[in-house]
Amino acid sequence: MLLHTIKEVREQIKEWKKQGLTVGLVPTMGALHNGHKSLIEKSVEKCDKTVVSVFVNPIQFCPGEDLDKYPRTLDADNKLCDEIGADIVFAPNPKEMYGEGHILSNDFLTYVIPPYFYTDKLCGKSRVGHFDGVCTVVNKLFNIVQPDFAFFGKKDMQQLIILKKMVQDLNIPVEIIPCPIVREESGLALSSRNKYLTEQGKINALALSKLLFNIKACYNKGVVDTKYLGETAYSFLNDNHSLEYLEFRDKDTLEEKTIADDNTVVFIAARVENVRLIDNIELR
Ligand code: PAJ
Repeated sequence: MLLHTIKEVREQIKEWKKQGLTVGLVPTMGALHNGHKSLIEKSVEKCDKTVVSVFVNPIQFCPGEDLDKYPRTLDADNKLCDEIGADIVFAPNPKEMYGEGHILSNDFLTYVIPPYFYTDKLCGKSRVGHFDGVCTVVNKLFNIVQPDFAFFGKKDMQQLIILKKMVQDLNIPVEIIPCPIVREESGLALSSRNKYLTEQGKINALALSKLLFNIKACYNKGVVDTKYLGETAYSFLNDNHSLEYLEFRDKDTLEEKTIADDNTVVFIAARVENVRLIDNIELR
């Protein structure tokens, strides 16, 4: 069922809650691929009812980012959700979510601002305000759908960690279910932004996952000095990659690690053909 208004969603949810059914929410920006599919499948399996939101959220894009050219494929997305067994596809427009004529800034709109310690690093460093936009929209979706469970991918690990923190700090009655990264057979992590890459770009992009797998292999052999682990990784990169960061951080607190352990995540962001790609690997 494709719904565009908050009112229609609320009415349906009210009905389900009356019947004592559990509700799962999978927030997305559409252009659905097998990564999204795995989240939706998990929700369908775990919950009585599943809502997939498809909303390219303007307030999480920074000036100069790809808001206008972000792929929009609602018909195909809706069909896929139907096939998987999702019950509602909620696809509001920006006006429905943020009101008419509103200037989308925190001068005029109530924002949910996650703690600075979590947002001043990794993607937050170059995408200033991005996680404010993510937390604000996800909080709104939680209020609209009131899900028992919400499904997020580890592909966006910093986002996942920040959303878990938001739920904990604001006592939001939802359980966050982290889902594994889905990769192509080649190792490339699926992303809606892979569509911007040429075939050669996709080959060049493989360096990111290869480098992460190599770090994990070294760690498994007993190498724990993150400076050394980082240095071995640079040999995977060349002029086709513009590295933004390669960092070793704690899975829960995002604190930096000098000595890697089982709680360490290695985060990478790099541009290939000027497309910003992110990936990460848990060392355990
Ligand atoms: P989007 O990039 O569409 O991703 C929606 C969800 O799919 C996120 O939880 C993301 O981590 C997950 N996902 C994307 N690629 C994946 C992959 N290869 N394997 C596993 N999961 C993957 O993330 C967002 O949208 C937005 O920031 C959102 C949370 C919807 C708020 O607007």
